[in-house]
This record gives sequence, C-alpha cells and structure tokens, in this order.
Amino acid sequence: MSRFGIRKKLKSMLGMGGGSDIVLHSLTFVLPDGSERRVEVEEHYSLLMAADTNGITISTGRRAGGTCPDGGCASCRLEVLDQTGLSPMKVGEVTSLDNAIAGLPHEGRDRKPTAPKTPNTRLGCHTKVIGDGGRVQIPALFDPDQIAGSDE
Ligand code: FES
Repeated sequence: MSRFGIRKKLKSMLGMGGGSDIVLHSLTFVLPDGSERRVEVEEHYSLLMAADTNGITISTGRRAGGTCPDGGCASCRLEVLDQTGLSPMKVGEVTSLDNAIAGLPHEGRDRKPTAPKTPNTRLGCHTKVIGDGGRVQIPALFDPDQIAGSDE
C-alpha cells in the first residue's frame, strides 16, 4: 500500500471520511512509450501523488520518485496536454521552473540549466487535481534499477 493509500485507510479507520466524502476525479497519464493510463485520483492530490498512488513513478532525479522538501528542484517536470481539472500555476511553481531553466543552484548545489519550458510545462508536485479531465504527458519514469548497487 502506498503512503497515500495508508492516509486514506487511516482516515477511514478514524471515521474521517472513510470514502463517502472523498471526491475522485479522472485523469489520464500518457506514458513515455505513448501508452495511456486513465486513473481515478483523490481531489487535491498533486500529479506526483496521483501517479505514485497508481504505480506510475515519475522520474524526479535524486529524490527517486518522491517530492523534494521545498518544491524547488523542478525535476518533476510534466507536459500538460489538457489543463481541464488541474489547478492553475502559482508563483512558487513558476519560480521553481524558471530557476531550473536558468541553472540556478538549488539547496546549495550547482546544477545545469534544464530544457526551456513550453506553454504546457508544469511541475508534478505543484499541480493539483481539482476536477475531471486532465491529460498529462510524463516524459520519463523513475527506473529503480538505475540506483541498484552492485552485489560485489
Ligand atoms: S519534486 Fe521537486 S519540484 Fe517537484
């Protein structure tokens, strides 16, 4: 069970919803190979959480699929193909994305400039699901094998 599934289970056990007041919205992920996954997502989940709870781990570089503490790494980049049902961009998301594109240091570490953004570029941990109909292209999935150590 994912950490978000645990949250839902705890809410249910504590009588804090249990499912009847949890609002779900449909969302479609377009995976790097072009295949599509339509999922149901709890309202206000971020796209990163929505992917994770459905076994689709978005590549977020050093965080290995998780969310960075300050939302500033910008490694959870996605391309939104249909903005329907997704939260609007806020200043923090714009700043995070622009800083990454400019190659400004993050958490005291230098980093190389990233690819320019398109009008549809969003950050998965900033973008929330607030309604039905979102459609999101995931450019890369996290590959756990890339961090597997050697047996030697
Ligand atoms: S995970 Fe760092 S900005 Fe989204």
